[in-house]
Amino acid sequence: MLSVVPRPVRVRVPAKINLHLGVGDLRDDGYHQLETVFQAVSLSDEVTVAPADRRSITVIGDNANAVPTDHTNLAWTAIDALAAMTGHRGEVAVEITKGIPVAGGMAGGSADAAAVLVGLTRLWRSDIDRDDLSSVAAGIGSDVPFSLRGGTALGTGRGEHLVGVLSRGSFHWVIAVAGGGLSTPEVYRELDHLRAGSATGEHRAGPPDELLQALAAGDARRLAPALCNDLQPAALSLMPTLRRTLRAGTEAGALAGIVSGSGPTCAFLCDDADHAVDVAAELAGAGVCRSVRIASGPVPGARVVPDETIG
Ligand code: C5P
Repeated sequence: MLSVVPRPVRVRVPAKINLHLGVGDLRDDGYHQLETVFQAVSLSDEVTVAPADRRSITVIGDNANAVPTDHTNLAWTAIDALAAMTGHRGEVAVEITKGIPVAGGMAGGSADAAAVLVGLTRLWRSDIDRDDLSSVAAGIGSDVPFSLRGGTALGTGRGEHLVGVLSRGSFHWVIAVAGGGLSTPEVYRELDHLRAGSATGEHRAGPPDELLQALAAGDARRLAPALCNDLQPAALSLMPTLRRTLRAGTEAGALAGIVSGSGPTCAFLCDDADHAVDVAAELAGAGVCRSVRIASGPVPGARVVPDETIG
């Protein structure tokens, strides 16, 4: 019988910024209750899944050697999860081309897991719908459902329960990539530590009403003062040099700067694309980060790249 080997599937998946990250108390399961507004932005990884005799993960691109290629990579967990669901043996070759900063607070690992879910669904011709895929995603990591979905969304629970948020037009960002990474669990632990030591009861993010209105209006000037990240003090405590990065971004003319998620990547909001180019040039000259990128959002979540667009 003639057997047809399926063609490799390539998936593009975006980074995220938390425009609002309200962190509640530590839960019994070791996670913190969140209220967060995610935006997917145009820094992306490309992930190719191909049939193979044995499982492998290869990583190329910026800082690729800092990414594990074994079972500790969330992409590996994603293969296990989908193989268990569909009955496949899970022997695939995964190639990840990093465009999302590694350990940067932009959900790079979660993005790769989401891309593997989408890629394998196509490769294995399985008929899992997006809702089921989202449940599988939530079991892999708190940010994986958003990496699947993209756009702009409000996340609650661990961040995995999502509802779409109205966002008009595009927002323009300058992204400052730091020299090192931060571990997400360590940043949450540092926040707990800072909160335990605060006698006065520290400021916490309120509901993101003003931020949601600014998004609906497509108004960057209104969005700027509403950006808020409860993890920022913890990231700054673990990496104090980020204060200089944040200051340099606003001195370069950005409307506002914020640590992205658990950091250490910083994101600077700009008026428009031209303004972002100017701010990026100025920030690159300030010598406060490893590299400077430009991005816009919202963009879609993990998507198969059609064959004809692969160059
Ligand atoms: O869900 P994920 O595996 O990405 O989370 C990594 C770690 O970040 C968790 O083990 C936990 O320490 C911390 N975290 C948290 N509260 C959340 C999400 C993540 O404390 N809502």
